[in-house]
Amino acid sequence: MNRPAHVGVLTSGGDAPGMNAAIRAVVRSALYNDLRITGIIEGFDGMVNGRSMPLGSRDVSNIIQRGGTILRSARSAAFRTPEGRMRAMAHLQEQGIDALVVIGGDGTFAGAKVFEQEHGMPVIGLPGTIDNDLSGTDMTIGFDTATNTAVEAIDKIRDTASSHDRLFFVEVMGRDTGFIAMSAALAAGAEYVMLPEERQTIDELVRVLEEGSRTKSSSIVVVAEGDEEGGALTVARKVKERFDHYDIRVTVLGHLQRGGAPTVTDRVLASRLGVAAVEQLLNGVHGGMLGLVNDQVTFTPFDIAINTRKTPQHDLLRVQAILSI
Ligand code: F6P
Repeated sequence: MNRPAHVGVLTSGGDAPGMNAAIRAVVRSALYNDLRITGIIEGFDGMVNGRSMPLGSRDVSNIIQRGGTILRSARSAAFRTPEGRMRAMAHLQEQGIDALVVIGGDGTFAGAKVFEQEHGMPVIGLPGTIDNDLSGTDMTIGFDTATNTAVEAIDKIRDTASSHDRLFFVEVMGRDTGFIAMSAALAAGAEYVMLPEERQTIDELVRVLEEGSRTKSSSIVVVAEGDEEGGALTVARKVKERFDHYDIRVTVLGHLQRGGAPTVTDRVLASRLGVAAVEQLLNGVHGGMLGLVNDQVTFTPFDIAINTRKTPQHDLLRVQAILSI
């Protein structure tokens, strides 16, 4: 592959805190290397519809601390069709864009992979999702911020739970995965955590709660949104059916976990990966995702990043159980 001259950058899928820091790093790294850089608006949809803007260094000033994504994000139905992808390629060619950096999660990388195969456009992916469910990186951009937001909320819920002797079920994000739930439960000292990756029954949950109730007057159960027993409302209802002496409340944290200023960890991660993305394209590396593993930037082909299931460390669950007695 020839040295790219003009890089396009986009964010796709659910936004994540730190995406702006990643955009800033990609833009400045491209300019540092004398490349042109264009921001594509609203992810793959913007590529299909030809919505983009040239970016200079000052266009990404003052965004490292901002949540969301200045390039906006969308889930694109048109890009899932070969015709849509052809239109997208035509728009890139019109502008002379000859390499892409895409920031998003597994859906984003699935799209990137097909696009690269069909049209030969070199693509590098950066892991931008609060879910942390991509293999090939210890942490995804946004996970640390989202988990800190969840912990801050649970700490507040703990105040009111203990003041009223209540059992709270707190639902955190994670449609398919329990990374946020696991770390938030451990960090907030929750009594129990329900994860989509683990077979946990209501019987077992009730057993732990009943045992705890001998010495505790309030408890917090963190439930991942995608847990197989249902979300927090369903789990709470099932527990209430068996033990109506519990004074139960439910809080669904929802999208507030996706917003807010990124933490230092997310800003540093995004900055390192953004710079590396442009450098790797210049080295002729593409067709995969960059991540940080043991503090080293690593490359994982899209296929492996998408198809290798990453699950929360089982040991964290054991530690959480020990510490919640
Ligand atoms: O992928 C990130 C995520 O926040 C999931 O944890 C959540 O299930 C989903 O996005 C929500 O998506 P939407 O914003 O489309 O409702």
